[in-house]
Amino acid sequence: MSITALKQAPLREHTRILGVGAYRPEVIVTNDDVCQWIDSSDEWIRQRTGIVTRHRAPRDVSVIDMAEAASREALDAAGIEASQLGAVLVSTVTHPYATPSAAAQLTDRLGATPAPAYDISAACAGYCYGIAQGDALVHAGTAEYVLVVGVEKLSDFIDNGERTISFLLGDGAGAVVIGPGDSAGIGPSVWGSDGSKHAAIRMNRSLIDVRDYALGVVTTDTEDEADISRQSLWPTMVQDGPTVFRWAVWEMAKVAQSALDAAGITADDLAAFLPHQANIRIIDEMVKQLKLPDHVYVARDIVDAGNTSAASIPLAMHRTLKEQPSLSGKLALQIGFGAGLVFGAQVVVLP
Ligand SMILES: CC(C)(COP(=O)(O)OP(=O)(O)OC[C@H]1O[C@@H](n2cnc3c(N)ncnc32)[C@H](O)[C@@H]1OP(=O)(O)O)[C@@H](O)C(=O)NCCC(=O)NCCS
Repeated sequence: MSITALKQAPLREHTRILGVGAYRPEVIVTNDDVCQWIDSSDEWIRQRTGIVTRHRAPRDVSVIDMAEAASREALDAAGIEASQLGAVLVSTVTHPYATPSAAAQLTDRLGATPAPAYDISAACAGYCYGIAQGDALVHAGTAEYVLVVGVEKLSDFIDNGERTISFLLGDGAGAVVIGPGDSAGIGPSVWGSDGSKHAAIRMNRSLIDVRDYALGVVTTDTEDEADISRQSLWPTMVQDGPTVFRWAVWEMAKVAQSALDAAGITADDLAAFLPHQANIRIIDEMVKQLKLPDHVYVARDIVDAGNTSAASIPLAMHRTLKEQPSLSGKLALQIGFGAGLVFGAQVVVLP
């Protein structure tokens, strides 16, 4: 057969987000609860981060349970049957199995089999990475409808007594369906990474370390040290907060501006700003640097959700549309950034 006879998938000109769903676990953890575990105060946490409460999933609620609840709402809102999905992408860093993926199990639960399914490991940028990929798959004709989920059960990977990050993090899930649109609905993605800063937010040990401790391959100098190792065997998150803070404030406003430029719009054209909910001071600083006008609605879901990593932007989008339904169909700038370090941003039309 000649090469000229080869068919390629037909390109689609426009894509858009068709519907959004969310799941917020019922257990609420207050700053006073947190202060039983670390030397801190309600006032310090509010002033330095903006966080008042965060949600945690109970032991028997998994990443897949949360993802399923958010996905079902997103599918309903989009008016799409699970069987119509051409791909299922799950952004998470807290599914407790390296394989099989959360996405494959979620696809089965939803009744979307045999849709292709895979997980994305891009921490707090995971949702924006998922949008970049879902958008590209629909554009390229590889899939007609793509489910993008951001879900985290961070409470499984924190040590309550760890003062650099545990008080920031919460659990939850958000999901959207991407499909063809009549006009442009997702601007170009501006995304990237800087692995030279991989130690800025990290796990305190690898699963190989856990195995070696369990097998007694690693020996400690004293019995005290051995006790500490055994007690804190499980890998949990730690971070160098000020390094992340400076990087987020200085570098991420530039990425957000690039996403506006790539979309061919200015801050004046925006109706909403949906930044990753990492710290209210980072959000406020980005608002200043981007010179967002007063009419732009700024999502501050962090106040009662904390930082839910890959779930934070779709959760913020869901809440924004609940509180401000008139923003539906208007332009929003979204930006995610975090461990890797990685980042991703795009302008989208709100579903
Ligand atoms: C973690 C973070 C809230 C800490 O706030 P900060 O203002 O940078 O605080 P610093 O680490 O500089 O510490 C300032 C003081 O607060 C104290 N402090 C630090 N953590 C504290 C806590 N949890 N509770 C009370 N006090 C704390 C420090 O001991 C220090 O005290 P000192 O001045 O007496 O030495 C902040 O750095 C942050 O939000 N960084 C970005 C985190 C992030 O977004 N991570 C995820 C990215 S996706």
